Amino acid sequence: MPDAVGAIDQGTTSTRFIVFDRRGIILAQAQREHEQIFPRPGWVEHDPREIWRNTHAVMREGLARAGLEPRDLAAVGITNQRETALLWDRRTGEPLHHALVWQDTRTDRHVAALARDGGRDRFRAVTGLPLASYFSASKLAWLLDHVEGARALAEDGTALFGTIDSWLVWNLTGGPDGGLHVTDVTNASRTQLMSLETLEWDDAMLGVFRIPRAVLPKIVSSGGVCGETRAPFPGVPVGGILGDQQAALFGQTCFSAGEAKNTYGTGCFALMNTGPEPVASTAGLVTTVAYKIDGHPPAYALEGSIAITGALVQWLRDNLGLIGASGEIEGLARSVEDNGGVYVVPAFSGLYAPHWRDDARGLIIGLTRYANKGHIARACLEATAYQTREVLEAMERDSGCPIAELRCDGGMTVNDLLMQFQADILDRPTLRPKVSETTALGAAYAAGLATGFWKTLEDLRDNWAVDKRWHPRIAAEERRALFAGWGRAVERSFGWVEENA
Ligand SMILES: Nc1ncnc2c1ncn2[C@@H]1O[C@H](COP(=O)(O)OP(=O)(O)OP(=O)(O)O)[C@@H](O)[C@H]1O
Ligand SMILES: [Mg+2]
Repeated sequence: MPDAVGAIDQGTTSTRFIVFDRRGIILAQAQREHEQIFPRPGWVEHDPREIWRNTHAVMREGLARAGLEPRDLAAVGITNQRETALLWDRRTGEPLHHALVWQDTRTDRHVAALARDGGRDRFRAVTGLPLASYFSASKLAWLLDHVEGARALAEDGTALFGTIDSWLVWNLTGGPDGGLHVTDVTNASRTQLMSLETLEWDDAMLGVFRIPRAVLPKIVSSGGVCGETRAPFPGVPVGGILGDQQAALFGQTCFSAGEAKNTYGTGCFALMNTGPEPVASTAGLVTTVAYKIDGHPPAYALEGSIAITGALVQWLRDNLGLIGASGEIEGLARSVEDNGGVYVVPAFSGLYAPHWRDDARGLIIGLTRYANKGHIARACLEATAYQTREVLEAMERDSGCPIAELRCDGGMTVNDLLMQFQADILDRPTLRPKVSETTALGAAYAAGLATGFWKTLEDLRDNWAVDKRWHPRIAAEERRALFAGWGRAVERSFGWVEENA
């Protein structure tokens, strides 16, 4: 009897394989980072072959560390960085180009041109999304237009498009030798090519972005068995595919309308389950599919997507050299008492929710002779908390549901200063669950449900427990003044990129 479930968590910076037991506890894991390729300012690429090699390796390592055989796994679930887009040749499995990563802004002008004719929100009613270079459609259009021969190969069905989930499933299930070309509804909902009502590719959207239908994967549910592995080991059911942020919502067991979480990783992504009908946003959020389990209606979500949070910590480390490791930011930030008037707006890829400004760029403001690197470190951590407050306020406006306390997860939640400041600036408690790897856990849950390893959502809820809670401590006036400073800084980041530059 299999007594474990595996999950592949293919993230922006690394690939993990985590093996969970029936109580949702981690038995073993393996992780590998991959290269971030920055060919020009604003361009971000990954090598899909490296991602598949790493996936292959971590699956073998993780399973070995758990002391298990493939037959001990009831299923493998997949969760992935969303929106990142690639094309590959179905005959050889070779990518036609590096993957264009979600943060890549090379399609700004294409997107701005579409917005001139009908506004940035012209496709919200169908797709739930504003026009932004963030989503996959313009990236796929770029590949079709700029990679020699790609459009012809796409039209005759030789080239395949996928987000990273599709790329992994295809490789896991045989690659050129019968690999399945599928994507799940949550990933498809991030392309801006799928209708939120029908959960199918939308012909009008395909027309807008000039996408041939033959290149697209089949859309499947997030919780359903779609095939069986052939690599790196054979015979394990593949089921449970969710974009990483939807997976974290699922892993936090936010199964009821009104339940919300915020994941602090490369970026921050707050999602609220809004139940079986999509809720339109007027406050600058995105409407997206939360998950669809086979045999059940879909669940939708409102999402506040923030591009840069943990990535700002990495930038302090890799580009400025102010710290040697991400974890050192807390000590540096604690070397000062407050931000000293300094704000950092990390609009490296423009600003996403709730502003949606492709023309914003990053800034550090409020500098005086008094400011030192401690203030900058503190301002970088605070930027995460301010951005989170912006999207949570938008979420409460759009949903009409107050959020009494915030369920947090992701790599940055080990930072005590950040979690305390988050509670302070929100004026609400923040809390972290015992298993903070909720992204992988969500994919494992979906895969385990699909194969009957877990029977009901209630079984999963029983696994959830709080690790730590932070309560707000600062005075109302201090909170107001800090957040007002942030608002002024954000306004100054707008309009930096000139449209025809
Ligand atoms: N102690 C810390 N304080 C602040 N940030 C931290 C700390 N430790 C890690 N981080 C940041 O957390 C992020 C990693 O978190 P996590 O592993 O959840 O990221 P992720 O978004 O899942 O990565 P990926 O995008 O690859 O999926 C990195 O950006 C890192 O800089
Ligand atoms: Mg992640």
